[in-house]
Amino acid sequence: MEKIGVIGGTGKFGNALTHRLATYGYHVSIGSRSEEKGKKIADEMNKANNYVIQVEGGSIQSSIESQIIVLAVPPSQAIPLLEDHKQKLKGKLVWDVTVPLTFGKFIKNNFKEGKSNLEQIRNFFDESHVVGCLKTVSADLIRDTTLQSKITTFVLSKDEAYYQTTAQILENIGFFPVRVRGIYHAQTLERMTALAIQLNKTYPGSRVAYSLVGLEK
Ligand SMILES: NC(=O)c1ccc[n+]([C@@H]2O[C@H](COP(=O)([O-])OP(=O)(O)OC[C@H]3O[C@@H](n4cnc5c(N)ncnc54)[C@H](OP(=O)(O)O)[C@@H]3O)[C@@H](O)[C@H]2O)c1
Repeated sequence: MEKIGVIGGTGKFGNALTHRLATYGYHVSIGSRSEEKGKKIADEMNKANNYVIQVEGGSIQSSIESQIIVLAVPPSQAIPLLEDHKQKLKGKLVWDVTVPLTFGKFIKNNFKEGKSNLEQIRNFFDESHVVGCLKTVSADLIRDTTLQSKITTFVLSKDEAYYQTTAQILENIGFFPVRVRGIYHAQTLERMTALAIQLNKTYPGSRVAYSLVGLEK
């Protein structure tokens, strides 16, 4: 089975995804800017849960040795943090879950040069297979492995084979993957996240926000 490196697996989203993947039997390696922090979080997770395969934790350098890499870091940091590792990511499947947002009275997207984060990341890591997924799903839902229904997630992949690999893993861990064709829609999905958070502020935990990920309330 492929090992999945979650860069930012110490954070809210990356940690929830690490937990879900490990709960469903995947081999996960957390990558942190601090090797010590990565190890500590992995140790805590292993102590608190009965994972069949223990979560590994350490530096970004060790985590990117995995076959699949998840970029679960602040949207503006994905490129600067991994640019030195561009060669190592060559040919690999990379999941981009990032959404550029600004928080205030209204939740807005701050697209750099009018481009979605997926376009930016795909253009930079042009020799990797960058697939956008999980962008509209909250960390809280990802962490909740007791949910009875599947969580809808949109998947943007140029390539059929990398879509299939991604969709299979997502299905195995409790998602209902929906393929979206066309990079143009990456911006729409990143905007949907801003909308979901905004709605959640007005109607906390309501069926409106839930319906965006196909769940009933
Ligand atoms: N939270 C959600 O519900 C949600 C939903 C959809 C998408 N996302 C996306 O997921 C990504 C992570 O979000 P999050 O909520 O998990 O954020 P977070 O809790 O702040 O975690 C981000 C992680 O990224 C790492 N990191 C690397 N460079 C960093 C920097 N300069 N400043 C801060 N942290 C840095 C940190 O790990 P180390 O310190 O260990 O390096 C940190 O634990 C974002 O791109 C976000 O748009 C989040």
